[in-house]
Amino acid sequence: MHPLQCVLQVQRSLGWGPLASVSWLSLRMCRAHSSLSSTTCSSPERQEDGARKDFSSRLAAGPTFQHFLKSASAPQEKLSSEVEDPPPYLTMDELLGRQRKVYLETYGCQMNVNDTEIAWSILQKSGYLRTSNLQEADVILLVTCSIREKAEQTIWNRLHQLKALKTRRPRSRVPLRIGILGCMAERLKEEILNREKMVDVLAGPDAYRDLPRLLAVAESGQQAANVLLSLDETYADVMPVQTNPSATSAFVSIMRGCDNMCSYCIVPFTRGRERSRPVASILEEVKKLSEQVIRPPWPSKVLGLQGLKEVTLLGQNVNSFRDNSEVQFNNAVSTNLSRGFTTNYKAKQGGLRFAHLLDQVSRVDPEMRIRFTSPHPKDFPDEVLQLIHERDNICKQIHLPAQSGSSRVLEAMRRGYSREAYVELVHHIRESIPGVSLSSDFIAGFCGETEEDHVQTVSLLREVQYNMGFLFAYSMRQKTRAYHRLKDDVPEEVKLRRLEELITVFREEATKANQISVGCTQLVLVEGLSKRSVTDLCGRNDGNLKVIFPDAEMEDVNNPGLRVRAQPGDYVLVKITSASSQTLRGHVLCRTTLKDSSENC
Ligand code: 5AD
Ligand code: SF4
Repeated sequence: MHPLQCVLQVQRSLGWGPLASVSWLSLRMCRAHSSLSSTTCSSPERQEDGARKDFSSRLAAGPTFQHFLKSASAPQEKLSSEVEDPPPYLTMDELLGRQRKVYLETYGCQMNVNDTEIAWSILQKSGYLRTSNLQEADVILLVTCSIREKAEQTIWNRLHQLKALKTRRPRSRVPLRIGILGCMAERLKEEILNREKMVDVLAGPDAYRDLPRLLAVAESGQQAANVLLSLDETYADVMPVQTNPSATSAFVSIMRGCDNMCSYCIVPFTRGRERSRPVASILEEVKKLSEQVIRPPWPSKVLGLQGLKEVTLLGQNVNSFRDNSEVQFNNAVSTNLSRGFTTNYKAKQGGLRFAHLLDQVSRVDPEMRIRFTSPHPKDFPDEVLQLIHERDNICKQIHLPAQSGSSRVLEAMRRGYSREAYVELVHHIRESIPGVSLSSDFIAGFCGETEEDHVQTVSLLREVQYNMGFLFAYSMRQKTRAYHRLKDDVPEEVKLRRLEELITVFREEATKANQISVGCTQLVLVEGLSKRSVTDLCGRNDGNLKVIFPDAEMEDVNNPGLRVRAQPGDYVLVKITSASSQTLRGHVLCRTTLKDSSENC
């Protein structure tokens, strides 16, 4: 077999798309290849002479076919403290960060916040330092989002600002390197490298392990990219590093990618196929977080509270979680969808499911609140609802993205349910979990949406009366089914007008829904100072709504007679005195614990 043929076959057996082969061929053409999975082409003006000579001589002793095969093998579980062996064209010294300072900037969803922590964890182990001062940075990495056109425009604008920083950089300092990470790197690939010549590194959502190597290649003046998507990368062995020492909560990624293929959505193309992280590694991370110390952001005699108090399990579609990592997990029965719901993909079998994971995670620490986002309405098993109802530390809050209130539009979106099925599920959830707080996502002005469809969405907002909502104007994305098959025919001004109307109705209804809390006593996890006033503290209730209250002395129910002030990570009971669509206000009654708390209403 010809070596190239063999390599391509290895790629296919690992499920790599056509890009892998294109990358490999362009590697050959560039003669600056770094590994099977990347492109590293340089424009002539970027090449620094010394670096080129140096690089060429090492290229002569470049990678062998064995090396490619090694790179192509499935990722092994690695000890987190291990640093990759350098590829033949880099020395260990180059692979290590040489104390270069990295500035990370995150855009988009919570998944990107978690990705930032993963990327940083990998770079930190490679000897990089982190800075929060842009001027001090040697490497600037933007963790990007592609979900809507506007999100990408923000990044292009930011890149123009950073270009100025790069050009003004004094020669006495090491050249500034700029990297684009995440969804935009995946979606636009070479377009970014060509359009923005000052971008040095591109790393797609499954390529963060490769960052030290990509940055090392960039050190020699080359552009370096790895945008391969994986079938099995979950970063299970990478413990994300949080940088805020007073954070009371953390995100834990439980799965990556999405197989749903909603017709408007770019995510399956930028984040790839759905895969779940092994339950054992998730539990290990949650345990570590439950032991992590929270330090107050203000001078305090209290050294810090033991244990983060909240984790949010993250995934594009958490209730299709399925850990198939061990053979014995595959005996489980197949999934039943809720009544009236369908999927765009073939039913999957076996594995440890989300209810099992939620049960296990909630047992790690009874004082730790558990949330999850986002579930898809289509597979909401009763076991999950039952668990939320019976466990004190699983928050009674469900994000249930509807996207539209019109069955006709929902079908065009390929959501797999009708308005009626969705509303029935809402009733079922409310019966199963009294007092549950609901939130949702909606898109205004999807392809073919009529005024009548829009009115249906308005009426769904009124009918369900969500506590929280995320509303967007539709933004056509290339590659999606809607891009190929439907017409983006709602004029921009109509989309915006409909969006405004949805926002107004959502606010009115949320205000009503939140006002039910006035007069109630709620358990609030204290986060820190309120942004608006230094005399107020801010925290979140079980429904994830922000609660503001004056910083005052109070009783500690577990130490009668002791007067205390709230610290981040404390649970306090707050009497709610007013409510708006986004915030509750009240006054603090006492410090307590999750176990001992007695909320009323
Ligand atoms: N245009 C507008 N909003 C979108 N979303 C996803 N794709 C698009 C798009 N092309 C919204 C959906 C999703 C949320 C994360 O972003 O409401 O639930
Ligand atoms: Fe996108 Fe639909 Fe997957 Fe959510 S479930 S990430 S909207 S394709």
